[in-house]
Amino acid sequence: MLCWLTSHALCSTEAVKVVSEGCSPAERDALLLLKAGIRNSSALLSSWAAQADCCAWSGVVCRNRSGDVRVAELNLQNPNAEQTNEYDTALSGELLNPSLSSLTALRSLNLSYNDLGGAPIPAFVGSLRQLRVLDLRWCNFAGNLPPHLGNLTNLRYLDLKSNSFLQDRPRVDSSLDWLKALSSLTYLDMSDVDLSAAAYNWVSTINSLPALRQLKLFLCNLDVPPSLDLELNLTSLTTLDLSLNRFHSTFPNWLWNLTGLLSLQLGNSRLQGQLPPEIGNLINLVNLDLSLNSLHGPLPTSIWKLKNLANLDLSFNFLGDSLPTGIMNLSSLSTLNLANCSLTGPIPTELGNLTTLKYLYLDLNSLSGRVPGEIGKLLDLAQLDLSANSLRGNISEFHISNLTRFPGWLRWQHSIKSINLYNTGIEDTLPEWFWNSSSSTILAVDFSRNKICGALPTSLERPLPSTLFTPHLSYLILSHNHINGRIPSDVCDCMRLERFNLSNNQIFGEIPGCWPEGSLLSFVHLGNNMLSGEIPSSVGNLTRLEFLHLNDNNLSGRLPFSLQKCSQLLVVDLGDNKFSGNVPVWIGQSWLQLRALRLRSNMFDGDIAPQLGQLRDLQIVDLSNNTLSGPIPDSFGNFSALISTSARPLPPFFTMFVGSGDYEGIESMALVTKGDQLMFSTILYLVKTIDLSSNNLSGEIPKELGYLAGLHTLNLSRNYFRGEIPDDIGRMGSLETLDLSLNCLSGRIPQAMSELNYLNHLNLSYNNLSGEIPFGNQLQTLDDASIYISNPYLCGVLINKSCFNGNNINASSEEYGMASQMLSIYLSHALGFLIGLWSVFVLLLFQKDWRNSYFKMIDKVYEATKIKMRN
Ligand SMILES: *[C@@H]1O[C@H](CO)[C@@H](O)[C@H](O)[C@H]1NC(C)=O
Ligand SMILES: *[C@@H]1O[C@H](CO)[C@@H](O)[C@H](O)[C@H]1NC(C)=O
Ligand SMILES: *[C@@H]1O[C@H](CO)[C@@H](O)[C@H](O)[C@H]1NC(C)=O
Ligand SMILES: *[C@@H]1O[C@H](CO)[C@@H](O)[C@H](O)[C@H]1NC(C)=O
Ligand SMILES: *[C@@H]1O[C@H](CO)[C@@H](O)[C@H](O)[C@H]1NC(C)=O
Ligand SMILES: *[C@@H]1O[C@H](CO)[C@@H](O)[C@H](O)[C@H]1NC(C)=O
Ligand SMILES: *[C@@H]1O[C@H](CO)[C@@H](O)[C@H](O)[C@H]1NC(C)=O
Ligand SMILES: *[C@@H]1O[C@H](CO)[C@@H](O)[C@H](O)[C@H]1NC(C)=O
Ligand SMILES: *[C@@H]1O[C@H](CO)[C@@H](O)[C@H](O)[C@H]1NC(C)=O
Ligand SMILES: *[C@@H]1O[C@H](CO)[C@@H](O)[C@H](O)[C@H]1NC(C)=O
Repeated sequence: MLCWLTSHALCSTEAVKVVSEGCSPAERDALLLLKAGIRNSSALLSSWAAQADCCAWSGVVCRNRSGDVRVAELNLQNPNAEQTNEYDTALSGELLNPSLSSLTALRSLNLSYNDLGGAPIPAFVGSLRQLRVLDLRWCNFAGNLPPHLGNLTNLRYLDLKSNSFLQDRPRVDSSLDWLKALSSLTYLDMSDVDLSAAAYNWVSTINSLPALRQLKLFLCNLDVPPSLDLELNLTSLTTLDLSLNRFHSTFPNWLWNLTGLLSLQLGNSRLQGQLPPEIGNLINLVNLDLSLNSLHGPLPTSIWKLKNLANLDLSFNFLGDSLPTGIMNLSSLSTLNLANCSLTGPIPTELGNLTTLKYLYLDLNSLSGRVPGEIGKLLDLAQLDLSANSLRGNISEFHISNLTRFPGWLRWQHSIKSINLYNTGIEDTLPEWFWNSSSSTILAVDFSRNKICGALPTSLERPLPSTLFTPHLSYLILSHNHINGRIPSDVCDCMRLERFNLSNNQIFGEIPGCWPEGSLLSFVHLGNNMLSGEIPSSVGNLTRLEFLHLNDNNLSGRLPFSLQKCSQLLVVDLGDNKFSGNVPVWIGQSWLQLRALRLRSNMFDGDIAPQLGQLRDLQIVDLSNNTLSGPIPDSFGNFSALISTSARPLPPFFTMFVGSGDYEGIESMALVTKGDQLMFSTILYLVKTIDLSSNNLSGEIPKELGYLAGLHTLNLSRNYFRGEIPDDIGRMGSLETLDLSLNCLSGRIPQAMSELNYLNHLNLSYNNLSGEIPFGNQLQTLDDASIYISNPYLCGVLINKSCFNGNNINASSEEYGMASQMLSIYLSHALGFLIGLWSVFVLLLFQKDWRNSYFKMIDKVYEATKIKMRN
């Protein structure tokens, strides 16, 4: 590597003898032809003009060899390479224009991160005989690699990695024989190129590249032979990445001859069995990645001879057994990843000897016992993940042992940014030091989902300057524990606090009334505690508040007028308390960003103010189980978010909490849908619901509700609605749940209801509906008679009550009716749902944002399930 760098540096210093005149007209013309073929050359190639010396153009480097001035390097790499806005600055068009073949002295060509539009690499590239460096990674070329590349016998550096992000991956047609000619190659990266056609021959091909130092063939569909009938020549090889290829379950024995390796990556390669003792032959290894295989323990003791190892990743294997103490010999380790290795037993105290560790991941194992205090000796530790284990005992133990001399483990950490002990099985009181001592750089604390008990301190006595609450703490999460006591009022002084989550504990007393102006708090979750009293009016000073959860407490009184100052609120959950008075009119005038309003199970009374309908973004309205009276305002047909069938994600609010496995950080809310109360979190933003059930509402159901084509759940049950079900209900095309039971509705069930393709939970029972139950389409799938019970004047096949008493309908039309009914049963099963599914697919096909969010949602759900399963 060093040698290569030196030689490369040498050739660039030569090249740097840039000349100001004397660019040959032929070469200048060739470059202008190239520019002409590039579709959007404006910014990067603006200096390329007909008159000037081409050696001064950006990206062009010339070389003067005894008076012969030639273009030696062309660096048109995308300046935003590897950044998210990469495509904004990508050049596209014919970047490999045949005119380049006139640049016969070209030694370096770098087109990385541009866009060749899925074209193959043209054969003429093989004529650039002087090329030392060819960098075509991330260029979106596809098709076959031309064997003409084998003409580039001077090549030292070839990077063809990760192309075809839009089209087929590039392929090697039959063999890689052309590579054999590139005998000066020191760096070869063909990752993400399909090399399956090369079969086993690729090894002998590579073996004829004696100068090779770095070989990266990640994700190449390679067959990796278990043994070789040739002598390995690759004595210079220092880097080998064969991750994500086809290994034949065991480690190939020839690997152990590559004793010069500094870095070996074989992640995700379906390797099985034990790691052979020969791993100890690779005595120079600095990086070893064997993650995501099916390796079994125990590890060979020879691995502990690899004294130079800085990064060891064995995560997602089945090592079993306890954490091997031999690891303590690896005194240069900077990263140790043993996540999900089926480790059992305690964390050995000797871990504290690995003082160079920066990243330590032991999550997703079955480690038990206490967290040893010696972890506190890892002064360089930047990330520590112990989550999802069976650790128990005393969290204070590892700090307290040294408290006589030190103010605690946290204080030893000079630059710790976040502590995440989420779901680690800790059962203990919160130690006093936790409140009093900390590093001054700490940003985030997550101790959620443990069994931490004891009281919050009465006051956050703060031996300034180093306490947890100054000056930077922005993220405090102690949810899902057994913490009791009152909320200390000095929490109001944490001016940097953004997220504050004490939910699901046994905290009592009142919410402190000291909230100052200028606070950064955007997320407050005090739900599921025993808080009482009123919401203090100073909460109105939290003008950045976006998420306010006070649900499931004993809070009472009216909502303070000052709350209307919290105009950024997105989600408000005050459900299951004893709040009273009107649902304030100002909600509809002030909380203009509101997405979800949950006031369920309180004592709110009076009319629903029509102003609520002004909230364009409101998509969850849960006012159920109060004593609201009067009609539903017609303005409820105005909710734009419920009219629209697309969804907008909630903003991310913990982007700075890097390395967190913070599942408490995800917004969540309990909602009743299809008759069950469910917790929605990652997909909350997709939910659209109106629940006004169990109130004293009256009047007719406004036909304006029919505009809400995006609504999924409408629950108006247990009220005093009268009149007919409006026909317009058939326009609520996304409705899945409709509950109108226990009202005084009369008249016919509108036939239009059968148009609701997604409807799968319907309840019209206990009303005064009459006439024939409509059939066809979706209604046919809802064949449960209980949907309609206690409507004495309804009739129809489903409830076994003929509609033909005395009616003069003749037999043939009855038969016709039966036949069409049967047809519609088929149709509803086959078509009704199919149409439903189709609409989803079509939606997914055409609406990019939706598609992304849908798939991201699936990913997240999948990840969450994965984690849960491990737990
Ligand atoms: C190239 O180098 C020669 C000496 O080898 C020098 O005379 C000549 O001026 C240089 N040309 C340019 C354009 O710098
Ligand atoms: C090519 O350009 C990229 C910038 O995108 C740079 O990182 C890379 O080092 C260059 N390649 C070579 C071989 O110099
Ligand atoms: C160049 O073209 C590519 C592909 O068409 C496009 O993504 C990119 O935004 C364009 N860049 C500029 C600078 O116009
Ligand atoms: C380059 O290689 C191809 C195929 O290997 C060969 O047919 C061709 O003659 C070579 N071209 C030159 C200019 O050497
Ligand atoms: C090893 O490399 C040398 C050139 O350094 C070459 O002559 C020899 O054939 C190679 N051996 C094998 C087995 O490819
Ligand atoms: C590996 O090295 C051993 C001796 O050290 C030798 O016998 C064997 O042939 C070598 N294997 C390969 C594939 O080079
Ligand atoms: C760890 O360090 C302690 C001294 O702090 C030493 O006594 C012990 O032998 C070391 N353990 C190992 C396994 O190196
Ligand atoms: C406490 O500090 C002393 C002095 O630095 C150190 O030797 C000892 O290992 C520490 N104890 C623990 C449990 O970290
Ligand atoms: C808002 O904060 C100020 C101090 O910044 C305080 O005087 C005032 O009482 C607070 N407002 C409310 C409504 O409590
Ligand atoms: C309705 O609210 C009361 C208290 O106000 C509560 O006891 C009851 O469980 C709630 N019912 C539902 C279905 O939420």
